[in-house]
Amino acid sequence: MTGGAGFIGSNLVLSLQEKYPDARLTVIDDFRSGDFKNLAGYTGDFVAEDLVRLDWERQFRGEKFDGIFHLASITDTTLHDQFAQTHDNVEGFRRLLQFAGPTKTRIVYASSAATYGNASAASREGSGAAPSNVYAFSKVIMDNIARRAAGASSEWKLVGLRFFNVYGPREAHKGVPASMVYHLSKQMRAGQRPRIFKHGEQKRDFVYVQDIVQGCLRAFEAEESGIYNLGFGQPRSFNEMVQILNRSLGTNLEPEYIENPHAHYQNFTQADLMAVRSALHYQPEYPLEKGVADYMRWLDPA
Ligand SMILES: NC(=O)c1ccc[n+]([C@@H]2O[C@H](COP(=O)([O-])OP(=O)(O)OC[C@H]3O[C@@H](n4cnc5c(N)ncnc54)[C@H](O)[C@@H]3O)[C@@H](O)[C@H]2O)c1
Repeated sequence: MTGGAGFIGSNLVLSLQEKYPDARLTVIDDFRSGDFKNLAGYTGDFVAEDLVRLDWERQFRGEKFDGIFHLASITDTTLHDQFAQTHDNVEGFRRLLQFAGPTKTRIVYASSAATYGNASAASREGSGAAPSNVYAFSKVIMDNIARRAAGASSEWKLVGLRFFNVYGPREAHKGVPASMVYHLSKQMRAGQRPRIFKHGEQKRDFVYVQDIVQGCLRAFEAEESGIYNLGFGQPRSFNEMVQILNRSLGTNLEPEYIENPHAHYQNFTQADLMAVRSALHYQPEYPLEKGVADYMRWLDPA
């Protein structure tokens, strides 16, 4: 797995370890945003390398993988360095495809809901890309080259997953790019009023990391290549989020509304889950109330 020291990767690799105790797991990560502390209890191998430079053939000479989860990416969407975002995200992926192609090793990789840009209704996989930042652009190019590779070989299974707004354990290392649930709960647990953009009616498809793990595991079993949304399927407002956090934390803090400094902002995200439900049998299990409660228990075990 690439990006296994990061938020989603560490949750996924630890779940894989639990589910398949005999599996030989290898994480590749260069720690540019990840943190070794996310891998407490991990019993597998770790290769500290940058995917843009990694010589896969030399590193893994003769080794055969059942499959590769590719989660590594620059994940700070506010990094506007067009060369760095596109080069590192796309070229890292291209090298992986070059390595996996000859053996048709299956790949599940992380794309993003950011590829849809601004939406006002549920996004469908076929509805065309409209990236509004260069991070999203890099994910669109990854989807394009994955589609091209899959189109050239029906035997090779390549599954892209467009994650929506993921939250959950092991995301603190991300700092500013960590989820809203993380930031608001941090403020509220310190007794401060949660700060949200005016007027809190923006809606996002918040999805708990355990549902994302489930989706990744199902994608690993896919019979066909494809690109699918992975969210919970319901947009929830920032105001609702504050209410849910208040209930979970036993607080009664009113939001403090602040100006939104971002020129391009996704005021609405929602995953249409029709394709992923039918092709991968994905069934999200954590509505926001349940995911937040589980996350708060993890942050503050009783
Ligand atoms: N968290 C979300 O809400 C969300 C939403 C949409 C898509 N995604 C995608 O999911 C994946 C995982 O994101 P995350 O939230 O866990 O972020 P993260 O920053 O915690 O994890 C990314 C990991 O990749 C590693 N990495 C980055 N570039 C690398 C490179 N060139 N070589 C080796 N390692 C490298 C980082 O060190 C880090 O450990 C990413 O591809 C991201 O774009 C996340």
